[in-house]
Amino acid sequence: MSSEKPFLATLQGKVLPVPPVWLMRQAGRYLPEYRALRQQAGSFQAMIANPDYATEVTLQPLRRFAFDAAILFSDILVIPAALGQSVVFEDGRGPVLGKLPPLESLDPANIHGHLQPVYDTLAKLKDALPREGFERTALIGFAGAPWTIACYMVEGAGSKEFSATRSLAYGDPETFARLIEIITHATTEYLSRQIASGAEAVQIFDSWAGVLPDAQFRRWVIEPARKIVAALKTRHPGVPVIGFPRAAGAMYAEYARETGITALGLDERMDLRTAAKFALPLQGNLDPFVLRAGGEVLDAEADRIISELAGVPFVFNLGHGVNKETPPEHVTRLVNRIRLKERM
Ligand code: CP3
Repeated sequence: MSSEKPFLATLQGKVLPVPPVWLMRQAGRYLPEYRALRQQAGSFQAMIANPDYATEVTLQPLRRFAFDAAILFSDILVIPAALGQSVVFEDGRGPVLGKLPPLESLDPANIHGHLQPVYDTLAKLKDALPREGFERTALIGFAGAPWTIACYMVEGAGSKEFSATRSLAYGDPETFARLIEIITHATTEYLSRQIASGAEAVQIFDSWAGVLPDAQFRRWVIEPARKIVAALKTRHPGVPVIGFPRAAGAMYAEYARETGITALGLDERMDLRTAAKFALPLQGNLDPFVLRAGGEVLDAEADRIISELAGVPFVFNLGHGVNKETPPEHVTRLVNRIRLKERM
């Protein structure tokens, strides 16, 4: 039976006349109501640690824009923190991580205490969505992929080329494999608990997948994703898993084929005519800077994406998160444009 919710029906393989839409980072600093609540809470970390704030922030963009999905408000870096590594979000600097603890001290069985606010947020959202009139809005949970999480855990903070992580993966593959295994285990348990708490679909963000050569990509991106997907499909049959190996380029095809994911998230550089042949539901891939620019180029790009994916089960999204300088009216314009189009 296909779902009443357009987002879930699409992930089940249905081609809808108007594609469902949501945006990565749809809650965030481009919205004045987000900035106001963040000020009240004191910090980003205080917001994600408090289920009342996190629920409210998740709902903010839904009240403005007719999105088909809500995404849990949290961050991928709660996993390093739950494993015992220090994580601090510094204003204007982004996340700063402490030194990687000895691997023996990282305990994936012990993460749920730290992550309880996330589970509580999902439970609150499950309850709040229909109460606020969002009956057809799906609830998405998420986690970072092991490779991307390892990059942050090894590198300390975000870098551009992840030299320390890539050097470790080549120089001491056994140690690196153990780290990836610990994160894979923790991520599986985390996503499973998110689903049990109310998430109707989950997305795995591999933001730094694009830096790896093919053999390393297979080992550190495809293989861990395959394990996570297999475990989730066994425990939660029918719950879709979206994989987003950002900037994977020519490796997108193999990722789509080998991981078992339900749907594939595409970054803005991925060619849609190539992706349309992968034979699974797709999500993406408007350039966030087209959304920031707005105007006619936004209409034209939205139209192009929709026409290139005619006949494919497709969820409209960006190729990466909403840029914080984006005027909210541009999001309204985009959603109206998508809703205007009759496909097929
Ligand atoms: O999509 C959503 O709206 C859900 C919430 C969400 C956040 N981060 C909130 C957030 C999600 C899904 C993420 C994922 C995330 N976090 C990724 C993967 C996706 C991607 O962007 O590649 C990564 C790499 C992170 C790590 C992270 N978190 C960084 C590098 C930063 C600093 C950069 C920035 O934009 O400030 C964060 C902070 C963060 N996570 C913010 C938000 C709304 C900004 C916090 C603030 O200052 O208010």
